Amino acid sequence: MTALLIRDLAQVVTPAAEGAPARGSALGEVTVLEDAFVLSEGGTIAAVGRMRDLGSLPEDVREVDGRGRCAVPGLVDCHTHACFAGDRVEEFALRAAGASYEELHAAGGGIMSTVRATRAASPADLERAIGRHRAWMLRSGTTTFESKSGYGLDRETELASLRAIAAAGGIPTWLGAHAVPTDQGDADAYLDFAIGEVLPEAARLAEAADVFLERGAFDAAQARRYLDACREAGLVLRLHGDQFTEQGAVQLAIELGARSIDHLEATGPDGVRTLADSEVIGVLLPASALFLDRPMPPARALVEAGAAIALATDFNPGSSFCESLPVICSLAATQLHLGPAEALTACTVNAAAVLGRADRLGRLAAGYAADIVLLDATDWRYLAYHLGGPVVAEVVLGGEPVELR
Ligand code: NIG
Ligand code: FE
Repeated sequence: MTALLIRDLAQVVTPAAEGAPARGSALGEVTVLEDAFVLSEGGTIAAVGRMRDLGSLPEDVREVDGRGRCAVPGLVDCHTHACFAGDRVEEFALRAAGASYEELHAAGGGIMSTVRATRAASPADLERAIGRHRAWMLRSGTTTFESKSGYGLDRETELASLRAIAAAGGIPTWLGAHAVPTDQGDADAYLDFAIGEVLPEAARLAEAADVFLERGAFDAAQARRYLDACREAGLVLRLHGDQFTEQGAVQLAIELGARSIDHLEATGPDGVRTLADSEVIGVLLPASALFLDRPMPPARALVEAGAAIALATDFNPGSSFCESLPVICSLAATQLHLGPAEALTACTVNAAAVLGRADRLGRLAAGYAADIVLLDATDWRYLAYHLGGPVVAEVVLGGEPVELR
């Protein structure tokens, strides 16, 4: 692998706080170097600095002209549901006309309609679908993504989903408890099946397990049973919690030592304080709140209270058909009242912490992966400012410039 020098960059920007996840005022600390370079060798960043301090270069170095651009760390999407077939455009139109997401779910649509489409897809179809979604993400600057399964809810399709996610370069999370499939009896009977029949193999394919703890999905006792079994099998624990209602998800996440609790749109002041006093990372998904016309999560209160937060897209066909972390940064600034620096940290090194990779991903610093996004701007804050615009000019993955499709 050759060396890569990105030179004459208007700015090189990276989260500044030591350690991860950054919380409180550290969330908003970034280092900005003007007229700067990034040098990588063998897929790893070798040096970052000002042009005037550029030392001698390796012989085989390939140069990229960074004039008019800013470099930020490759974006890390720590919460997606990218492995699905079909779409929910019909449901989207119905919701526009007044139907609610929860009503559609209760009537057998929603998640279950994607389950039907995903079960009907072959493993090759699934690989093609997630490959397409992965290309969209890259074009938006996402160099690392997590994806959940959860649209199979039978053994074969759940395991095929986890394999397809890994084949597409994603970090697989087993969302075996996403909804109660109608062909498996009640929630408890379904969990007997999922834990007994799917978990042993899922635990070999996935890094983490996730559950939808919500009215109409799984209750706290069921979520606990599922997560206990998953932890026993060696998986990191995550929860979809407080999306529509508070059902004790924050307390459960803390008690079980979960890595994250994701959503939090319905979290009240007690939940904010409790979460802030814990190690659990709150993953905020503002595109999902926007897409469903729901209240935004209490981001500012969480940060002020000292909670660790990350930002993610929640990319999926039903509640957030949005793969763009730059759009999430815009929503973070306009809807969650996070500054651009807080947003950047939340979808780089803090998101990497959710995925257990903060020692290697999410910063432009020597020793970190050479995953780099070049913005088409001379002020890095365009990342959040240019709402929905073509702000990502180039992407470097593991030290190699990527052809964006
Ligand atoms: O994170 N809330 C549960 N799961 C997903 C939505 C999945 C879907 O609607 O297909 C979420 O919003
Ligand atoms: Fe989700």
